[in-house]
Amino acid sequence: DLPPPFRRPLTQPPVLAPVESTGDTDVYEITQREATAEFFEGVQTPIWGYDGIFPGPTIVSPRGRTTVVRHRNELPVPSVVHLHGGRVAPEHDGYPTDLILPADGSLDDHHGTGHGGHAGDVTHGSRSYEYPIDQRAATLWYHDHRMDFTAPAVWRGLAGLHLVTDEEERALPLPDGDRDLALVIMDRAFDEDGALRYPSRDPELLETPGVTAPYEAGVLGDVILVNGTPWPYQEVDAVRYRLRLLNGCNARRLRLRLDPAPDGVDEPLVQIASDGGLLERPRAHPHIDLASAERQEVVVDFSRYGPGQTVRLVNDFGSGTTADVMEFRVVREARDESEVPERLSEIERLDPADAVRERDMVFQSNAVDGQHGWTINGDPFSVDRVHAAPNHGDIEIWNLYTDFHHPIHLHLVHFQVLKRGSREPGRFDGGWKDTLDLGPAEQARIITRFDGYRGKYVFHCHNLEHEDMMMMGNFEVR
Ligand code: C2O
Ligand code: CU
Repeated sequence: DLPPPFRRPLTQPPVLAPVESTGDTDVYEITQREATAEFFEGVQTPIWGYDGIFPGPTIVSPRGRTTVVRHRNELPVPSVVHLHGGRVAPEHDGYPTDLILPADGSLDDHHGTGHGGHAGDVTHGSRSYEYPIDQRAATLWYHDHRMDFTAPAVWRGLAGLHLVTDEEERALPLPDGDRDLALVIMDRAFDEDGALRYPSRDPELLETPGVTAPYEAGVLGDVILVNGTPWPYQEVDAVRYRLRLLNGCNARRLRLRLDPAPDGVDEPLVQIASDGGLLERPRAHPHIDLASAERQEVVVDFSRYGPGQTVRLVNDFGSGTTADVMEFRVVREARDESEVPERLSEIERLDPADAVRERDMVFQSNAVDGQHGWTINGDPFSVDRVHAAPNHGDIEIWNLYTDFHHPIHLHLVHFQVLKRGSREPGRFDGGWKDTLDLGPAEQARIITRFDGYRGKYVFHCHNLEHEDMMMMGNFEVR
């Protein structure tokens, strides 16, 4: 039986301290290991965690300082770490076959775990990922990205936040400190004994990728976790708060709304940032839509509610237990010097006239090796198939087409949305995006500049089951 909601307080994942800081570099260490988490009172659930916790520790990187994260793999399977939204060199991007083999050496002869026998740049036991952090302040996250097995690994807990801060953002009077809350929202399913339930075709997560029928469309859970706690509550002062929302679900889309809305306010969620950081101007919404991997940041003014009032964050795309997310309890009046300025940042607008080419990318269901699979332009993922080879610095327009719901994610770059079909960009498409949710039979026109690094990166559907079932391609910046 599921516990009643709103009984346990929200916690923030611990902020990781560097093990070493030199002139311009901070070095962190994370051990990926098996552990247990107490999602339900008195029940120990086995997980895979960065430093053994679910979600992993939060890394905070000021822009301009290099962050090195040394990951040690004490899991029974290979792992790969990707910094989602990070602008990093290809060898540090967590290419799906660039495996860290388990530290105990148990799989040293077992390179077959890299997609069809193809092993990329394999390391034994640990690996240092170097992130230059030469990018705007933003809510990034890191998660496992192993070829064929990303979905079950993230499901078991291999995900954490990585926040980038910068001067521009610090200079703004936005709510900060205790009034800056990260909400990593994840749905999960559990067995009677409290174990995480995931319908893998290979329970060892070593040989056979994918999920059993009928889960090919994506795996959903009936428990909503926020920062690892089922339906938590958070006490707040009657002031403004910044909420960093991350959809960390494998496949579930969320429509988040405050219930009740404050009296007389139809659009209480004031969006200030998206995947790639601050918007140019705040934008008020009645609700926030988030697909897997998307981030939106909002400011909520709890002074519009009186002390003693409770307000729920609900999910209008859910039903039953998944319609609730968490509860805020307004406990007291307090001073508030924060503000949401009319102007937040400046965003360079990419001009379609500067695009040197257009490409079509069609995301659709297809048979792959006689099984149900998901493809891009008719092809399943292959390390050798390059869908696009822009020259460094090229601006390109991509037309994305879908058959089903697919949140499309590009590594390395952030992009801007030019059109949704024949319509203008949607209300959540503002700013720099790295993941875009497309509905069934939808089309979007996006523009981006391929720069920063040369080399091969992936782009894929971020419904993690679709990703594992081959809906991924390569682009190579030359
Ligand atoms: Cu969030 Cu390629 O991933
Ligand atoms: Cu998809």
